[in-house]
Amino acid sequence: MEFMLDSLNLDAIKTWKQFIPLAGVTSNPTITRMEGGKPFFQHIRQVRDLVGDSVPIHVQVIAQDYQGILADAARIRQECGLSTYIKVPTTKEGLAAIQSLKNDGYFVTATAIYTAIQGLLAIEAGADYLAPYFNRMENLDIDPEMVIHQLWQVIEREKKSCKIVAASFKNLAQVSRAIAAGAQAVTVSPDLLEAGLAHPSIAKAVDDFAKDWEATYQRTSLD
Ligand code: G3P
Repeated sequence: MEFMLDSLNLDAIKTWKQFIPLAGVTSNPTITRMEGGKPFFQHIRQVRDLVGDSVPIHVQVIAQDYQGILADAARIRQECGLSTYIKVPTTKEGLAAIQSLKNDGYFVTATAIYTAIQGLLAIEAGADYLAPYFNRMENLDIDPEMVIHQLWQVIEREKKSCKIVAASFKNLAQVSRAIAAGAQAVTVSPDLLEAGLAHPSIAKAVDDFAKDWEATYQRTSLD
């Protein structure tokens, strides 16, 4: 199982890197917009400095046509390093580009997946990760668990090395459901991670343990 951070916020990345086994940082133009238009590649290099060399960064192309996607991928790899995952929307042009990029040794994340057929074609095109958009699928009355499970079954049956990194979560139940359905990875916003650990019952349990220890031994430490 892999947990990635769906954010380019430097403070959030610095914080969460300390607390969780961070398996990646994912971004898209909407996520980039939240950082207020700082010079893009400089910003990605700051993310790289924060996470180190072993944590993959997923950076999305802007072009929508085949040649443009290849050119964007080359630029991203040149600016951000060989280990960068190129996020390519799973369109017709995107699928063609994914095949070329894989032939050229790129790491590729097929993104904006709403339907099983997109995922199946991306698997066959050679994508390393598939990013189904869980919440957006539910908004459209598409069953994300069924799609994720179907993709997972094909990956297992065909012994593909491709992984599913489920994305677009609006609550933690969706994250759990994506993993239960077969997603090997999830990318989650810092706010959702925070919500998962900020439940008052958790703090109360920890406080109660501390009080009981102190009441028993009249000290707050083990020895
Ligand atoms: O990683 C893709 C994801 O960021 C899309 O999420 O919240 O825009 O549906 P959202």
